[in-house]
Formats: sequence, structure tokens, C-alpha cells
Amino acid sequence: MSAKKCLWIMILTLGVAQGCGDEDEPGGAEPEATPEGEPEGGPEGDPEGEPGSEPEAAPEATPEAAPEGDPEGEPEGEPEGLDELPPTEGAALEAWLEAGIYKAWPAESEVHGSTGPHFGDVRTYINPTLEGSLQGGLAQHPEGSATVKELFGRGGQDTVLGWSVMRKVSGESAGGQGWFWFEVYNGNTFGEGVGVGICVGCHGGGQDFFLTPFPLR
Ligand code: HEC
Repeated sequence: MSAKKCLWIMILTLGVAQGCGDEDEPGGAEPEATPEGEPEGGPEGDPEGEPGSEPEAAPEATPEAAPEGDPEGEPEGEPEGLDELPPTEGAALEAWLEAGIYKAWPAESEVHGSTGPHFGDVRTYINPTLEGSLQGGLAQHPEGSATVKELFGRGGQDTVLGWSVMRKVSGESAGGQGWFWFEVYNGNTFGEGVGVGICVGCHGGGQDFFLTPFPLR
């Protein structure tokens, strides 16, 4: 209201925008909990700071992103995770899986018994890139195609005990080298890397290494 208070807000905000402060909530004018982040908090619109608006740890995010003057912020309308790819490093990938980000993807309607060596019951998710490629019948799925399979073990469990992951890291499949492979079950990792031999050997018969019947059931 007073010009003095306004000045304080600007000073605080500037200080935070330049990365010199751990002060909480620079905006002050409104509770920062509104996820849409409409810039009604003040004239400066807080293009960047959004204190605490990103609960799911994005491990690759650089902490000191430069102000790129994007007052609208991230598109909040669509479900989180639709465009997010699984990280290709074990620890980050497990955290990503545990956060359930892939659950925004198209999926099989039910858990069913695996016809492969995937520890019993499974449910497969595919990202929109892979779905489009499967629909189009492409011989090689594009880079950025990804699939996650939940592993439930034997005996009708409804708890996820692990995951199998495939992510296309190159447009060229190159005998499986264009795919990143990962599997963890009950805390044990059974494959992590590009072109993992045991995975490639069995998946080679699929549509560019994808084996689950499509359209998903
Ligand atoms: C002996 C064969 C075999 C081996 C070895 C194998 N898989 Fe599979 N995998 C399958 C079959 C069959 C499916 C289809 C779904 C099902 O029945 O489980 C599948 C499905 C998948 C899926 C879901 C996407 C798709 O292709 O359908 C992922 C992800 C996956 N496997 C990852 C892996 C990884 C990672 C490894 C290596 C650690 C691996 N698989 C090893 C047979 C195999």
C-alpha cells in the first residue's frame, strides 16, 4: 500500500532474484500456495522464484536457472509427467519411479501375468511419444520414446515391488544400443545401461524391442 512497503518488496524480490537470499516468500502480498501462480502478487510478477511450488524433486533441474522472463511460468493445465522422461542414471531413476511420474502415461488397463521373466504380474505404461510411434507402426521408435513396467511379483499382490524401464536414447536402434535399459526388483538391480545384453537378447523380437501387445489392453 504505502510506497515504502512497495519499495521493500521490490528490494527483497530483487535480492532473491539475484540469488543472494534464503529469505522466505519474497512476494508477501499473497499466500504463495496458489499453484497457478497468477501474477497478482505485485507488479514484478515474480517470474522465477515460485517458492516451494515444485514438490517433486527434479534432479536434473539446475538450481540457479537464469531469469528468462517467463511470467506465465510452467503450463499447469496438463498433468505433470506426461512429457517427462525417465532419468538414465540409477538413483535418479529410482526416485523418479517412486514419485510415480510415469502414471500420467497411457497404460494397460489391468495388472496381468507376464509372459516373460518379469517376476510375475506386470502392468506396462508407455509415454505419448512411444504411443504415437506404435500407432504409426514405425520400424524404429524416435528418441525420447519410453516405457515403464510395474512389477508386482507372484501371488496377486497389489504392491509395486519394482520396475522395468526402456528409454530410446537415439533414433537409431542399433541392435538395442539405442535403448537405455533398467530393471529393479525388491531392491536388486538387474540391468542398467545402454544396450544391456540380457534385455536386448529377448526383446529383439518386438516392434523395435517393444514386446507388449499393442494397442494396450
Ligand atoms: C526372456 C525374455 C525377456 C528378457 C530377458 C527381458 N524381457 Fe522385458 N519383456 C519380455 C516380455 C515377454 C515382455 C512383454 C510384457 C510381459 O509379458 O511381461 C517384456 C516387457 C518389458 C517392458 C515393457 C515394454 C515392452 O517391451 O513390452 C520393459 C520396460 C521391459 N520388458 C524391460 C526389460 C529389461 C530392462 C530387461 C533386462 C534387464 C528385460 N526386459 C529382459 C521379455 C523379456
